Amino acid sequence: MQLERLLQKHGFGTRKGCRSLIRNERVAVNGQICDDPFAEIDTTGLIFTVDGVDWPYAEFASLLLYKPAGYECSRKPVHHPSVLTLLPVQLRERDVQPIGRLDEDTTGLLLITDDGQLNHVLSSAKRKVPKVYLATTKHPVDQALIDQLLAGVLLTDEPEPIAAAAAEKAGDNLLRLTLTSGKYHQVKRMVAAAGNRVEALHREAVGDLSLSADLKPGEWRWLTADDLQKLGYSA
Ligand code: URA
Repeated sequence: MQLERLLQKHGFGTRKGCRSLIRNERVAVNGQICDDPFAEIDTTGLIFTVDGVDWPYAEFASLLLYKPAGYECSRKPVHHPSVLTLLPVQLRERDVQPIGRLDEDTTGLLLITDDGQLNHVLSSAKRKVPKVYLATTKHPVDQALIDQLLAGVLLTDEPEPIAAAAAEKAGDNLLRLTLTSGKYHQVKRMVAAAGNRVEALHREAVGDLSLSADLKPGEWRWLTADDLQKLGYSA
């Protein structure tokens, strides 16, 4: 792929802007400055560098973000900044979008991508991808709460009761809940319907992919082939 096109694909601005970055010797390919915008670059395993920052060649930008509280997943947020503001501008330029939504006050694992197929597959109701949440509850977690969540609770506007795929006590006021659907405020509504109340909510995992221990709230990393496999997705 031509270097100029490669930079444009990775969100570094217009072709003209990318050309000038290259001509001004601000771009290196596998560690070597390249000032030819039309140089043909082998993209296999490529790392390119712009202004000293390394970027992997990525056909799609698929990321895992540790969502902090106080950010909205909407691209047009109303009351709080968008989670997308936590990403470098080059990724936002690629038109990445959150896969599903977490509430503004929910923390934890959020997947973000510009790969329409990945987004579609993981959002599809048919696939029933499990999502694991840790809820801090107002009242202690007891067996009655767990039994109700596993048996199914009726939510307003839903025709049938919805059951958790798994529910367990994780502490006096901590509930670990696995859901295979993603309805609006689903955890909060299910817990409320079972007579308790969610005071804080954190998503620990999607499919077999857990939030990396090395990420802090607000930090992100690229998804690896191994991660995609854990999500049950092969491109
Ligand atoms: N369920 C909720 O109630 N909120 C979230 O953010 C995610 C699941």
